[in-house]
Amino acid sequence: PTQLRVHDLMNRMTLDDKIGQMVQAERQAATPQQAADLRLGSILSGGGSVPTPNTPAAWADMYDSYQKAALATPLGIPTLYGVDAVHGHNNVHGATIFPHNVGLGAAHDPKLVEKIGKVTASEVRATGPTWNFAPCLCVSRDDRWGRAYESFGETPKDAIDNATVVNGLQGRSLKSKGSVLATAKHYVGDGGTTAGDDQGNAEISEAELRKIHLPPFKEAIQRGAGSVMISFSSWNGQKAHGHKYLITDVLKKELRFSGLVVSDWNGVHQLNGNNDDLTADEVRESVNAGIDLFMEPYDAPKFISLLRTEVDEGRVAGSRIDDANRRILTKKFESGLFEKPFADRSLQKDFGGAEHRAVAREAVKKSQVLLKNEGALPIKKGSKVFVAGKNADDIGNQSGGWTITWQGSSGPITTGTTILQGIQQVGGANTKVTYDREGDGADKSYDVAVAVVGETPYAEGVGDRPDGLKLDAEDLATIAKLKATGVPVVVVTVSGRPLDITSELPGWNALLAAWLPGTEGAGVADVLFGEHKPSGKLTFSWAQDFSQLPINVGDGKKALFPYGYGLTYKKK
Ligand code: IFM
Repeated sequence: PTQLRVHDLMNRMTLDDKIGQMVQAERQAATPQQAADLRLGSILSGGGSVPTPNTPAAWADMYDSYQKAALATPLGIPTLYGVDAVHGHNNVHGATIFPHNVGLGAAHDPKLVEKIGKVTASEVRATGPTWNFAPCLCVSRDDRWGRAYESFGETPKDAIDNATVVNGLQGRSLKSKGSVLATAKHYVGDGGTTAGDDQGNAEISEAELRKIHLPPFKEAIQRGAGSVMISFSSWNGQKAHGHKYLITDVLKKELRFSGLVVSDWNGVHQLNGNNDDLTADEVRESVNAGIDLFMEPYDAPKFISLLRTEVDEGRVAGSRIDDANRRILTKKFESGLFEKPFADRSLQKDFGGAEHRAVAREAVKKSQVLLKNEGALPIKKGSKVFVAGKNADDIGNQSGGWTITWQGSSGPITTGTTILQGIQQVGGANTKVTYDREGDGADKSYDVAVAVVGETPYAEGVGDRPDGLKLDAEDLATIAKLKATGVPVVVVTVSGRPLDITSELPGWNALLAAWLPGTEGAGVADVLFGEHKPSGKLTFSWAQDFSQLPINVGDGKKALFPYGYGLTYKKK
């Protein structure tokens, strides 16, 4: 019946209706009425594009206003609204924010990851949108890449195992309560670029592309992922956004992907080698390569007029436009948008609630990887603990990029429990916890000192580290003050990837990799106090020094901590 409905609808659509369906604008660039007038098929909230106030209720109102305008057009085709909910519905204040994929990979618990998908989908639907630009199934082969933390690990198996998130997001059917359309991204080879360059060039053979980077997409498709986002990166010099072989021949034909293919943000604008104005050549090349829906945040009207000319003058076939529309409209019907177009406000009662946060805390516990322990851990309850470090009491830092704002930010940008607050809670009344960010005031009267250090948030573009991954001067100074006291020093790293710590490590009594845990900092404390025995195992080889990069399991190089490494506590 879906096919019949799509067929019937398409018979009533004009060419302008069809071209409009293929275009997505940023909500700040198109009011509901403008979107409807252009017959846009889709709207997105890019990272940080949020209503005021940034609450579930305001989101639902905003979402519904786009839907109402779309339904009031002659054919009443509902809009498909997309967001990046990449570690929970990270756009909204009060949401449950989960560890980023780097931590979830280390947890080795695909069922838990499926549950996380389900909670995420429910929080997204509570606010309206029915489309999530997640999961990122990149296989990150180089820690210099700023988006390495969006990867479950350096082997295809890590992403394949955790593709269960697709089922969590999409539910038993897209129509089932609290489910969203998932997006496998970024197709393909985004994690394989030379030197880990974001949006760079993957200079690899087809055999390697197929062995390392393609399998997670195969898995996601088998699991029914409804959309695939194209990568900004190039494969041997050719941009994925114009790659007909990769998109049409491999993805759509060979892998039999029947869902919709979406471009990345202005991705088409890069086809002619610069990021300037959109040209007719770029539009033609990408449509003919097989992209169905175009993320054109600020240039929707221009894209529409250029594509119209290409079709009118016979350079883009009507059959290609129909193929794109069939794919987009099928997902709209399958999502139940024609029957239930508005936000499901009944889900708001659980938004950021205790049940959801319990899932996140479990994920935090399981994602911790203990890398060194000379007996400093677990910390005994009732002891005197000094806590320091720039990431100890900062919910923004511990959540990383893609948190409320695009690049994430330091400070109290969302609700949750910092690692320090977690230590206070889990330690309980008998544990004496003293905190100073810089480590001032630490002395030998303490039983243990904990330094929570590492990276600060970044998302796209700004997270690449071509020059090194060392701790910064503030972190080193903080740790030095703690070490000077002579008490055992536990270092907790908050980071999106392995850091270059080999020269400092001998001076530390314990090292715990906490990755980017999200809003439930108490999960880190659960491990520090032994409420949960460390169980995470590395899905990234931890290099001895920066010059070893790229380093990946099986390449014969000797890592500081190899892929699969992770200690635990002895039985009491
Ligand atoms: O989904 C993202 C993608 O991962 C990177 N560029 C922007 C998109 C939409 O925000």
